[in-house]
Amino acid sequence: MSHSTLGTALVTGASSGIGALYADRLARRGYNLILVARNRERLNAMARDISSRTGRAVEVLAADLGDAAALARIEETLQHDASITLLVNNAGIGTHTPLLDSGVEQMTRMVALNVTAPMRLTYAAIPGFVARGRGAIINISSIVSIAPEVLNGVYGGTKAFVTAFSQSLHHELADKGVQVQAVLPGATATDFWAAGGLPVENLDSAIVMRAEDLVDAALVGFDRHELITIPSLHDVALWNAFEAARTALAPHLSTNRPAERYATAA
Ligand SMILES: NC(=O)c1ccc[n+]([C@@H]2O[C@H](COP(=O)([O-])OP(=O)(O)OC[C@H]3O[C@@H](n4cnc5c(N)ncnc54)[C@H](OP(=O)(O)O)[C@@H]3O)[C@@H](O)[C@H]2O)c1
Repeated sequence: MSHSTLGTALVTGASSGIGALYADRLARRGYNLILVARNRERLNAMARDISSRTGRAVEVLAADLGDAAALARIEETLQHDASITLLVNNAGIGTHTPLLDSGVEQMTRMVALNVTAPMRLTYAAIPGFVARGRGAIINISSIVSIAPEVLNGVYGGTKAFVTAFSQSLHHELADKGVQVQAVLPGATATDFWAAGGLPVENLDSAIVMRAEDLVDAALVGFDRHELITIPSLHDVALWNAFEAARTALAPHLSTNRPAERYATAA
């Protein structure tokens, strides 16, 4: 196996779209790779292509991350392979259909893939990262994590989990040598939209970013150690004001008596 001073990046959802581009960019940076998704043929073809172009070692682990046993195998890899220095939690599904038109079984599968899988993979990776004083996690969230009215509400809820979980991980782990980044893409031109029932061609092209641009910009944010990266947001002052309001609110949220506006008549 080719030695890499950067170590190995494990990328979920690496068989297409944003994950495939992370795989390409990280290998070009010098990471060895472990590629995870369900489509083994696509992953094998990518592995051959990336390793022939970059000389990096690329391993394929075909797994349905919505399946507990398959997920457990990836968790074991993260627990036991000390060469892993970067986990990219990217695999995810979404839909634009309203809550009441969406079947609860499909929503449950979405929660398993978008919430349970990244949470469990993070749990598997972190003890080793902390013990070695080195490691990074990139969580692919979405702008709908802060605008849940835009698409399906369960999807927005899963991404709100990813953003909040990332903020909390950063709070707990930054001084232990573990870097955490949540990437919040806006609409990005990938198979995601067709898989969710609305091909991307139906969207206004003014709001859709090329996946290459999204990943390259997100990696600039990673290199700057940003916690939250929103590549499509031009005026960062808007995000800073939102964060400032949130952190100003925090010390006032828990008190020992109800606010005056909830005073009962008696
Ligand atoms: N595209 C956008 O507009 C957009 C915007 C904001 C956030 N995002 C987020 O970006 C991430 C990547 O999406 P994308 O846009 O690149 O879409 P994509 O092209 O559809 O890629 C999704 C990836 O997830 C994998 N995947 C799906 N179900 C899986 C399962 N059960 N187990 C393991 N892997 C599975 C797919 O591979 P297999 O089919 O081979 O399993 C594929 O590699 C997602 O988390 C998504 O929520 C996308």
